[in-house]
Amino acid sequence: MQKKSQWWKEAIVYQIYIQSFQDSNNDGIGDIKGIQFRLDYLKDLGINTIWICPFYKSPMHDNGYDISDYQDINELFGSMVDFDELLKEAHLRGIKVIVDLVINHTSNEHPWFIESRKENNSPKRDWYIWRKGDKNNKPNNWESIFGGSVWKYDHNTDEYYLHIFSSKQPDLNWENKDVRNALYEIINWWIDKGVDGFRIDAISHIKKVEGLPNLPNPNNFKYVPSYKMHMNVSGIDKFLLELKANINKHPNIMTVGEANGVTVKDAVTWVHDDDGYMNMIFQFEQYEIKPKDSNEWMDVVGFKKILTKWQNAFENNGWNALYIENHDKPRSISLWGVDDVKFHQKCGKAFALMYFMMKGTPFIYQGQEIGMTNVRFDNINDYKDVAALNLYKFKLQEGNTKESILREIWDNGRDNARTPMQWSTEPNAGFTKGIPWLKVNPNYKFINVEDQLQDKDSILNFYKKLIKIRKSDDLFIHGSFKLLAKNHKQVFAYSRKLGNKKAYIIVNMTKDVAIYYVKGKEILGSDIILSNYDNLIIANSNKIKLRPFEAMLLKN
Ligand code: GLC
Ligand code: CA
Repeated sequence: MQKKSQWWKEAIVYQIYIQSFQDSNNDGIGDIKGIQFRLDYLKDLGINTIWICPFYKSPMHDNGYDISDYQDINELFGSMVDFDELLKEAHLRGIKVIVDLVINHTSNEHPWFIESRKENNSPKRDWYIWRKGDKNNKPNNWESIFGGSVWKYDHNTDEYYLHIFSSKQPDLNWENKDVRNALYEIINWWIDKGVDGFRIDAISHIKKVEGLPNLPNPNNFKYVPSYKMHMNVSGIDKFLLELKANINKHPNIMTVGEANGVTVKDAVTWVHDDDGYMNMIFQFEQYEIKPKDSNEWMDVVGFKKILTKWQNAFENNGWNALYIENHDKPRSISLWGVDDVKFHQKCGKAFALMYFMMKGTPFIYQGQEIGMTNVRFDNINDYKDVAALNLYKFKLQEGNTKESILREIWDNGRDNARTPMQWSTEPNAGFTKGIPWLKVNPNYKFINVEDQLQDKDSILNFYKKLIKIRKSDDLFIHGSFKLLAKNHKQVFAYSRKLGNKKAYIIVNMTKDVAIYYVKGKEILGSDIILSNYDNLIIANSNKIKLRPFEAMLLKN
């Protein structure tokens, strides 16, 4: 049987959060022309695919994840002409372009919703999920992912609509065939334009439990967390297979789903080589691992266990999406490592090597390649993320101190990943000559692209080497994964094997010296092809001494 092209298995994807990447017209907001301006930088880095976060027409209540026109460009970011040009220029450089597909919900300002809410017998009424309330009661007791009820009352027709994210993001009714067909048409339209694939937002939520029943509420909550009523619920396969059949009419389109709540067991079905719903999904289990506090080590054993489980699940069938950062999560060096001057560079490289050589497609989130870190603004007004602002408001009401809430935002806030890209030592890190929509992290004077391009020991140059090595041998694409030293509390070590080729990845994930007893002679007989220290210290025949965050790649 002729196999379809699987270029996405060889892709190295760079995620662009457009409003924070590069501003081209100095209004303080990154834009499409800014991305185009930086294409040569991306090409030089070595990546071959970009994923651009939503740039569609949107009132921007959730930074573009609330779309009011799927086929138009948000004027903050440019025009369709700009997009077409970007696509052309990216393709000329051998860079594929993946766009964000937000199809669980639209903005409440989308014409479909405006039409739907007009009257009970509007032709688009059934495109969203409307229910009668029970006197003053909501149609059921489900809680929204962004807090409060999933139901919003609309006096127009005296009914409620369902929103599992914010009330400005009403859920589309996937049970309605016209809705699905309208979405497929939009997908086809973007494919015809020439995009190479999709990152599919919140896709595990499109199916709701039949009848939208109340949840048991023994604790008398006001609203009950309702994930199990709309996250990967049975019957979703029908929609996902239909979506896939539509996308598969076009050859070579890559799909990666944001599939919160899909367990590793289900994932095998989701990404099965032959009849899976999509090529890959992002798992979130790795975020169950949090550092205890900055003086301790992260839970290395737990972390290895989770990632190994996902590696093993797809050993013979299916494919992983590898990532350590995105626009919703803190920076990895700050979250799991140590982000001070002393360890920053070693740690950034150690984490890079740790995840990059696993089996799957690696994703790099903008700024990760220079080791950008979390930010600590002292004033809540400097934060822009609705999630952070809501948290601050609610926790203040509950009587928490401002300092304690800020500390929580410093550790976990989404704006940690959204501060502007640090290009140079120029004002605002070279991101804009205007006033940036979100303040720049003041450490841009020490952490920026311009300096790191010059410095052969920089994190940036380490990423370049990693990418080159990954591309140089299909061992790194197709080789099998095996965890070594499973119970070591500091070291993450694994092998990759293809035929008689073998590579070893050994990473000290902590700021302290680690002793690693090597089993068998193979490792020490291999060549070090990449390391973040100058020379390996072999204490005796089978004992390696790893310095803080020491990381190496060996190959035989
Ligand atoms: C996804 C996005 C997130 C957004 C949410 C709602 O999780 O990554 O940024 O808030 O979907 O669309
Ligand atoms: Ca701009």
